[in-house]
Amino acid sequence: MQLYVDSANLADIRAAAALGCISGVTTNPSLLAKEDPSLDVKALLLDIHRTVGGHTSVEVVSTDSDGMLREADEILQWFPEATIKIPFIPAGLTAVRKLADQGIPTNVTLLFTANQALIAANAGATYVSVFLGRLDDISTDGVQAVRDTAEIWDTHGMESLIIAASIRNPLHLLECARAGAHIATVPYKVLLQSMKHPLTDAGLEAFLNDYKAMVAKKGS
Ligand code: E4P
Repeated sequence: MQLYVDSANLADIRAAAALGCISGVTTNPSLLAKEDPSLDVKALLLDIHRTVGGHTSVEVVSTDSDGMLREADEILQWFPEATIKIPFIPAGLTAVRKLADQGIPTNVTLLFTANQALIAANAGATYVSVFLGRLDDISTDGVQAVRDTAEIWDTHGMESLIIAASIRNPLHLLECARAGAHIATVPYKVLLQSMKHPLTDAGLEAFLNDYKAMVAKKGS
């Protein structure tokens, strides 16, 4: 399972990219809105794409298919490797089909059920983003939606890649990997939390102390 960073914060994306374990980045309008309003969105997205060098999902904000397709054209002029992120609404599916027919990758977002993912995949989505954290927020098992999707994908050999999105904690990451998501898009904070283990820290401290003690002994 690949890891993407779910962020529009360049500092966090740079730090995540420096870890060498990130294959892409997903943004959305709310993540962009958290950043400095003086930043030019196009310049920021180009910086993000250059930093990660892999998958970069950029979301459209139109709600009609023609508007979505116009936005997709504009984004692809910024950088042709962009993946166009499109909300799961009827107009979105129309746009996904048109983009798929032109070989342009799409990431269908705001999916909360395996049925929605199945429909998006049949419209030609390259990626289907299942939002588990927002399901947990309303007392519904979010990981189960990822499990259901992965099971259907296995049964039917579906080609779209499943992105586990709206990940809020390290357990979400673990459960999505176990469920069979192809990709998890993770906030930088959750990536750091998932790296942390007290035995790693204690073990390193002991190694370094033992080494220092050995060097001191040899020098005495
Ligand atoms: C990624 O594609 C989604 O936009 C993102 O994971 C949503 O996360 P949230 O539910 O924490 O806003």
